[in-house]
Amino acid sequence: MNLNNIRELDRNDPLAPLKAKFDNSNNIIYLDGNSLGRMPLSVLESTETLLKQQWGRDLITSWNKHQWIDMPSIVGDKIGRLIGASKGQVICSDSISINLFKVLAAGLSVQQERSIVLSTTDNFPTDLYMVQGLTSLLGEQHCQLKLVDEKALEQSLSRDVAILMVTEVNFRTGARLDIGRLTQLAHNLGILVIVDLAHSAGAVPVALDTWQVDFAVGCTYKYLNGGPGAPAFSYVAKRHQTHIKQPLYGWMGHATPFSFDAAYQGSADIRQQLVGTPPILAMQAVNSALEVFENIDMNAIRRKSIALSELFLTLLSQSEHTQCLTCISPYDAELRGSQLSFDYQQSYALCQALIDRGVVADYRDPSYIRFGFAPLYNSFEDIYLAVSEINAILKSDYHLQDKFTVRQKVT
Ligand SMILES: Cc1ncc(COP(=O)(O)O)c(C=O)c1O
Repeated sequence: MNLNNIRELDRNDPLAPLKAKFDNSNNIIYLDGNSLGRMPLSVLESTETLLKQQWGRDLITSWNKHQWIDMPSIVGDKIGRLIGASKGQVICSDSISINLFKVLAAGLSVQQERSIVLSTTDNFPTDLYMVQGLTSLLGEQHCQLKLVDEKALEQSLSRDVAILMVTEVNFRTGARLDIGRLTQLAHNLGILVIVDLAHSAGAVPVALDTWQVDFAVGCTYKYLNGGPGAPAFSYVAKRHQTHIKQPLYGWMGHATPFSFDAAYQGSADIRQQLVGTPPILAMQAVNSALEVFENIDMNAIRRKSIALSELFLTLLSQSEHTQCLTCISPYDAELRGSQLSFDYQQSYALCQALIDRGVVADYRDPSYIRFGFAPLYNSFEDIYLAVSEINAILKSDYHLQDKFTVRQKVT
């Protein structure tokens, strides 16, 4: 395939015009939207308005006048549309870690006779740490983490498991679990299901309501492009909202925060997941970043994501110099999210050399390089140029220079 064929793919791509909605001024090829999404241009404008007009002039009246108080729900419902959740079930707040703590504790409290939280050895560490933290707080008789390989999940479901806690798309390998099937199997055994959608939201179609997932969490800084450290979200299925109690009793989760009661009375809707004052500046960035998704079907995003990653694999397979990269992501596109990961001893150096030549990917220990595909702003030409650079670097051993082996704090 030559560059002309590739450009033809871009010309025929219905999502191609969306690239102009992002800041692409640095002219790099950005394949790291699975870590931090590019900045939508609308964010600049809307945060400036918020700073100048709302905070600057309207000050405290903005909580009512500009609906600051409702931002967590407004943003939550916008995210909900992208993950198959009808209104009133998603709220934007805190981080994934904190949100997990809340829903784990809430879930365990209604599973009185059971204490096991079943998860996967390869889950994102913070998810596992949250369970370990709860064990130290509640004791092993109330919370015990059990870890199994992703492939052993189904056979490990049993009546002594309280909660199945999984991440839909594996952060290292990009492998995608069948959440609909797992939820059904878990529910048959009375197990509640918590899903981490960090690598799913905005990247793959998710159907939380249809799958009948109980709780979900996710971040907005990856494929939702909400900005570094942007607030996360949580989903609590409507059927649980009136009876579950998350344990971080904050005033924003109170049924009537402005009655300033001394005694906590949790809200009987999704707002119970709130704890403290929402970070309005950061939330406004998420709010306007989500505008890019308006009128866009997640299936169209998925189709392009698969096409981008398949092109990447095809081009990579055509060079003898790239054969040292062992793909650890599923070859079947249906079984992966929107990333490809490769095992290669010199992955760290390769990643740094690529960044040096204007192609951004990232590295994960022990020896994996990850490429994320963000269909809203990645073009087919980006893929072509990225693979050309990988090829050129590996062919010339450009990455074997000492300067590319120096580890930085963030990999
Ligand atoms: C799957 C997964 N879960 C959780 C996190 C971290 O979440 P937070 O920093 O919002 O607590 C990440 C970060 O990349 C992640 O990939």
